[in-house]
Amino acid sequence: MKWTGLNELREKYLAFFESKEHLRLPSFSLVPQGDKSILLINAGMTPMKKYFTGEVTPPKKRVTTCQKCIRTPDIENVGKTARHGTYFEMLGNFSFGDYFKHEATAWAWEFFTKVLEIPEELLYVSVYLEDDEAYDIWTKEVGVDPSHMVRFGKEDNFWEHGAGPCGPCSEIYFDRGPDKGCGSPDCKVGCECDRFIEVWNLVFTQFENDGNNNYTRLANPNIDTGMGLERLACIMQDVDNLFEVDTVQNIMKHIIDISGIEYHKDAKKDISLRVITDHIRSTTFMVGDGVLPSNSGRGYVLRRLLRRAARHGRLIGIDRPFLAEVCETVIKENANAYPNLVEKQDYIKKVIAMEEESFYKTIDSGLGLLNEMMANSKDNVLSGEDAFKLQDTFGFPIDLTKEIVAENNMTVDEDSFKTLVEEARMKAKSVKRDGAETDWRNSGVSFKDIAKTEFTGYTENNTNATVVALVSDGERKDFVESGDAILVLDKTSFYAESGGQVGDTGVITIGDSTFEVTNTTKDADGVVLHHGTLVGDAVKVGDTVVTVYNEEK
Ligand code: ALA
Repeated sequence: MKWTGLNELREKYLAFFESKEHLRLPSFSLVPQGDKSILLINAGMTPMKKYFTGEVTPPKKRVTTCQKCIRTPDIENVGKTARHGTYFEMLGNFSFGDYFKHEATAWAWEFFTKVLEIPEELLYVSVYLEDDEAYDIWTKEVGVDPSHMVRFGKEDNFWEHGAGPCGPCSEIYFDRGPDKGCGSPDCKVGCECDRFIEVWNLVFTQFENDGNNNYTRLANPNIDTGMGLERLACIMQDVDNLFEVDTVQNIMKHIIDISGIEYHKDAKKDISLRVITDHIRSTTFMVGDGVLPSNSGRGYVLRRLLRRAARHGRLIGIDRPFLAEVCETVIKENANAYPNLVEKQDYIKKVIAMEEESFYKTIDSGLGLLNEMMANSKDNVLSGEDAFKLQDTFGFPIDLTKEIVAENNMTVDEDSFKTLVEEARMKAKSVKRDGAETDWRNSGVSFKDIAKTEFTGYTENNTNATVVALVSDGERKDFVESGDAILVLDKTSFYAESGGQVGDTGVITIGDSTFEVTNTTKDADGVVLHHGTLVGDAVKVGDTVVTVYNEEK
């Protein structure tokens, strides 16, 4: 096996499937488009669900991608172990009612054994317990030795998400050798130890689950495969974990240069180095895809990751904002595969630097206060009031408080914290409602600086306009990431509620994002307010938009 860099591996995979007549598509955005079921894309197939269900026709029946993915359920473990990370890329080849098991298995084997030259004796394959068809194809057609085949149950080898297309899968495992194993005589594929690692999941999407676990065979079965690029790189580079992979290592080296500390010298500092390395990867890509730090949804995920990274920077003695600098290395390492990062470099650095600086401003006083609070706590429990005050006044996300508290062998009274958050939310809502009933200016939001909105709706729909003000959470904002908001434009085709006439509803499009207008009102100075919900990328003042009101009422 030849040592192969991560970037080269990505290219080899995509080129291989192009040679099998697949259309290579660029990675989809990390922000799901038109799918509210998840905050961030977490698998190669997720942005293509509609191709699988047949709702949308794919550009070609064979597609291959390398998809940016973020998974945060294990965030607490990132850094503590060398295995966990929040950001990874998933290589995948997909068939939408085209080829099926014969081709998917044969090509996976060809890629591994011929292109990457992984010795067959180091590979093992699992199939779903009842999938004799796959077993026979692997052993008789592909030629896998039956001693390298295992069968697993539904838990391991059946891919489904509630109702919809689903099916059994086959996983390919790589044997890292007995010295990486647990030494148990029972150690085999499926053992929890580090010897046999799952590399590639081939899902044979052949059934439709009606939601009650009644399975019918799909007329056109699909193929969905997924392989973690970093994990494949670990194998090809013969390294133990993600943080030793070439491109990722270069990011850590940059942090080491800035901090002046060494890796593998002090276990605690190693945690910090890994946290920063992982989080700067995910956050660079998130900002590149239009996510902005905020207190809810994916904006909160971003804020939490950035603040966690910033704090770990301090733990290793970096006493100034530095993440924007490290993000340059992330961009450099990914420049060929993700040219949009290079184009947006200045913007990404600015967003990261702004968040880091705002965190810096509050962290010192917040940390001092937290230490005091911990010292005065009873029974090793930080009260909900204290945790709430830290979040509300010092911008300490609750997860950060929990983490620091846990480092001091204490816990947070989360129930009372949650009650306080809920109470505050209700209060904010009632302020908003009161304001809306009278006039927006009475709720503290003023548009005095905004000129009267030009109304174009007498003569046209589809008006090109510019965002001049935004409101969310009851405040004027320079940008809004998602959710309920008010958009003010220089002109609009939307008719505002007045003199008993109801306001228009409709859609305002901003690039790939949509703002669904549920009502249109006007303040006393003729500034038109579009009330609605934003879906897609963030919107900022200065963005150009198109306004289209619903013509049928
Ligand atoms: N969708 C499958 C996975 O994520 C391939 O493992």
